[in-house]
Amino acid sequence: MAELTDARRVMGRCDILGAISEEPGCLTRRFATPAMGEANRVVVGWMRDAGMTVRQDNVGNLIGRYEARDPDAKTLLLGSHLDTVRDAGKYDGPLGVLVALALIERLHARGERLPFAVEVVAFADEEGLRYHTAYLGSQALTGTFDPAQLSRQDEDGVVMDEAIRAFGGDPMAIGREKRDPDTVLAYCEVHIEQGLVLDHRNLPVGVVSTIMGQSRFTVAFVGQAGHAGTVPMALRHDALCAAAEFILMAEEMARQGVGLVATVGQLDVGPGASNVIPGRAALSLDVRHIDNTVRERTSVALHKKAIEIGARRGVIVEWRQVQGSTTIACAPEINAILSRAIESLGYEVLSLPSGAGHDAVVMSTLAPVAMLFVRCKGGISHNPAESVAVEDVAVALDVLEEFVRRWGRAIVAEQG
Ligand code: GLV
Ligand code: MN
Ligand code: MN
Repeated sequence: MAELTDARRVMGRCDILGAISEEPGCLTRRFATPAMGEANRVVVGWMRDAGMTVRQDNVGNLIGRYEARDPDAKTLLLGSHLDTVRDAGKYDGPLGVLVALALIERLHARGERLPFAVEVVAFADEEGLRYHTAYLGSQALTGTFDPAQLSRQDEDGVVMDEAIRAFGGDPMAIGREKRDPDTVLAYCEVHIEQGLVLDHRNLPVGVVSTIMGQSRFTVAFVGQAGHAGTVPMALRHDALCAAAEFILMAEEMARQGVGLVATVGQLDVGPGASNVIPGRAALSLDVRHIDNTVRERTSVALHKKAIEIGARRGVIVEWRQVQGSTTIACAPEINAILSRAIESLGYEVLSLPSGAGHDAVVMSTLAPVAMLFVRCKGGISHNPAESVAVEDVAVALDVLEEFVRRWGRAIVAEQG
């Protein structure tokens, strides 16, 4: 049985961060909001106590650095994100940051340095809740941040450029956050599985093989607002009815495809009164499949269907892609070290794909990536009922420690 003291501290910290929210009574922490600032301030204190030098970069990522024995050594990036979805659970993101931090605490307590520096990165935007732009944090580190995004507005009309400045960053300097790939060893992330595989197999942790690509769109149906009592049904151009037909059609199309998922998670209806025919219905659409071709083909087919529905109902369709990422593979050579670390601690090694997106997707454009999944109860996630066992967190921490030690020994052996 793994020692639980450090894992209990990680769980306690997940509770502390879980209470830092924009909304009373539930956890919502969007990019560059005062709640994110508060979370960052709390984590800065923990990082400094663990012997790390800490900086918040120009997009709002928090980065704690623990130096190597050799100042010229490469850097292993560990971490995950501190932003959340709306009405979130406590573990999606923060767990990966806090397990990595706990590893550094262990090293620091023993005055131990590795043959590589370690940075714990708390990414500022993985979920994309505020600006429909997942991965802003990792885009900054990889030099893939598109400055055109800076003009996007959130639901209150706050422009991203202003939000970043208010958060203490300089939007014009985000390009300078790009890391030199020659200085980065890899990016490794601990994350809850957000699925049922580990739970069904009764395993505490698993090694991620691939991370599924995703396409996100905003789709607006624009019809004609009118009087609910006077406009006959045959003469209406009801935007919400068009959206409703589209949503059910998307569900059906995804059901027909193996491993295909399509989700409408957000719907805004205007003008929004019980006696007014909806003139506008805007929705979010998220399409995923492990095969990039299937995902892209499905997205095109959905767009065509939306136009067909709109044409039949006299409703205009505004279709905009707001995000896209391809399926990526985790690095087999790093997965091999992770697998040996798991085995050496007496656990079965299970390799599994990720249906959820992660910063590792974007980080893979900079360096090899790997992920360690931790079992979460019933596979429930993006839900306040998200739950992990302290015993599993302890295993994940021990695996991460064993993993960096093994890798460190291999590097020293290579250097002769
Ligand atoms: C991130 O949580 C995602 O949407 O996959
Ligand atoms: Mn998430
Ligand atoms: Mn996540």
